[in-house]
Order: sequence, then C-alpha cells, then structure tokens
Amino acid sequence: HMRVLSGIQPTGRPHWGNYFGAIVQYIALQDAEQAYYFIANLHALTTVRDKQLLAQYSLDAAMDLIALGLDPQQAVLFVQSDVPEVSELCWILLSGTPMGLLERCHAYKDKKAKGLTADAGLFAYPVLQAADILAYDSDTVPVGEDQVQHIEVCRDIAGSFNHQYGEVFVLPKAKVLDSSARVPGTDGEKMSKSYNNTLAVFEDAKAQKKQIMRIATDSRPMDESKDPQDDVLYLLYSLVAAESDRAEMAELYQRGGFGYGDVKKKLAEAAEAFFADARSRREDWQRRPDDVRDILAAGAAKARQKAGEVLNRAQEACGLKGF
Ligand code: TYM
Repeated sequence: HMRVLSGIQPTGRPHWGNYFGAIVQYIALQDAEQAYYFIANLHALTTVRDKQLLAQYSLDAAMDLIALGLDPQQAVLFVQSDVPEVSELCWILLSGTPMGLLERCHAYKDKKAKGLTADAGLFAYPVLQAADILAYDSDTVPVGEDQVQHIEVCRDIAGSFNHQYGEVFVLPKAKVLDSSARVPGTDGEKMSKSYNNTLAVFEDAKAQKKQIMRIATDSRPMDESKDPQDDVLYLLYSLVAAESDRAEMAELYQRGGFGYGDVKKKLAEAAEAFFADARSRREDWQRRPDDVRDILAAGAAKARQKAGEVLNRAQEACGLKGF
C-alpha cells in the first residue's frame, strides 16, 4: 500500500537523467494505492524568470510525462501552484525549520561557495519540497540520487513537527534505482541542465545523433581492452539498448578492437528506437493542449482535496484552528 509522490521542475525539456532516474519510476509505481506526480513550477520560479517560458515549459512537461507513459487515469497529475494548500503548509513548516539545516543543503551551499548571492526562495526551496511531500501523506518518493538530501531534510522537518505537536505527518522515504540513480551526461559528470551536458528525451533524432557523435572520447588504442563501466558511451548505451545488444557491446569493450565511432552510431540508433513511440505520441499530444489542460485541472482538484485534509490537520495541531 504505497503512497507515492514526486515532482519535476519545468526548467526545460526532460533529459535522460530525469527519465531513467525518476520518470521510469513514476510509471512503474503509478498503480500504487496513491500516486501523485506534479510539475514543480513554484520551484522553477527560483530560476526561470521568463513568464512565457515558465508557462510553456509547464504545459510541455505535462505532455512529456503523458507521452512517456504516465497515465492520468491511474496517477494524479497536476501543477504545483494549482494547490495553494501546499504553500500554506510551507509557511507552517518554515516557522520551525532551523537556518542551519537549510545552510547545509547543496543547491544553496554550492551557490554561496561560488560567491553568488542567493534569493530567499532558493534558501527555502527544501522546505517547499517538504510541504509537497507531507501534504499528501506520501511514504515513497521516487527520485534520482541528487534529491535524497531533500527527502532527508523533509524527514527532519516532519519529525520535529510531530515531536512538538503530535503525530501529524507521515515520514517519507526516498526511492532510488540502483542502475540509474545518477545518469552521466555527455561529459561524464552527472547529467544536469545546469552543466549543459544533457541528452533530451524528445530531441529530434538527427540532432541527437550529431550530439552523440560529438561526445569526447579518450585516445585509447583500437585493440586495447577497456572496462565498459568506465566509459560514458557504454553507460548511456546500456540505458537504451536491448539486453542482448548490451551484453554484446560489453564483450566488445573487454575484447578490444572496436572504434568509438561505431559505438556512437549504435548508441544513436538505440536511442532513436528506444524513444520512437514516445516521440510520436508526444506529437499527438502537441495537437491537444486543451485535453492536457483538462487533465491538469482534474488532477489539481483531486490533489487539493487531499492536501486540504492534511493542511487542516497541521493547522489544528499547532493552534491555527479550533479556537
Ligand atoms: P528535477 O526537476 O531537477 O529532476 C526531476 C527528477 O530527475 C532526477 N534526476 C536524475 N536522476 C538520475 N540521474 C540524473 N543525472 C538526474 N538528473 C535529475 C531528479 O533526482 C528528480 O527525481 N527538487 C526536485 C523537484 C521536486 C520534488 C518535490 C521531487 C519538487 N518537489 C517533491 C520529489 C518530491 C527537482 O529539482 O527535480
């Protein structure tokens, strides 16, 4: 009886890290007792400052998720800002969150370390995320490894609220896939929009092939054997290739005598085949934006009902109601 929740920021189109780290899990878990998935536009507001772009990315994200196999009949799909209860809950949580807890969080810490000034929204980002999770009594949060710290912060915040006021919140757990918790980008670092090393799921096949052919490789002699797990091309290939092709490729690496150019071609072909159905479904949804808006409106109504119950519980527990 899992109660699942996760969110994705509409800061651009989804990349392989989002898909293999998180979205695959959303789809696998969508038949849970409760599955809530949302487009985190309030979080994206901390970085996307272009009104049209934020709105466009938000609708795109919904179409992308549905095209990839998220079924809005099974899971509740909605936009974060359509559930104002979460922002109210966020304030209640902020009131009891130690500064030090947030000062240790990566996004804020990294920005500070670079000598940049941060907005209060970035600082408070993990508390809004905690509100997202707690508002639906979620126990399972499918994410990539980079979000695990945020789930831990959520547990801390929920735990101290419960300690102060009684058992109000469910303590959630992160769910991370062993195989793709940290998908590498084209430069071998974690794939991330901010590193400019992403492969987009809905990329045009020709453009994606070009991108793949440009991936930098080492100058290993052709006949030398190589550990496939050390090579970003192999790691990416293993995400999109059929199991038998993947095993064959691993053998080729161990035997030596292959060229990176061939591996890249195979990677581009496998990627195209892997995402072909989703890409064509995505084109269909593109022509039906109003249907997607309806799906999001229905999702928001369901989400508000649940979040309203939990908000009420929290308000009563801390003396905001019942006088
Ligand atoms: P976001 O939008 O950065 O990423 C969405 C999901 O993709 C995962 N991910 C990856 N997984 C594996 N390898 C990678 N290279 C990779 N890059 C991204 C992320 O871990 C994430 O699961 N703060 C969240 C959004 C959010 C949220 C929430 C998530 C807001 N509220 C409540 C869970 C619960 C974020 O920025 O994800």
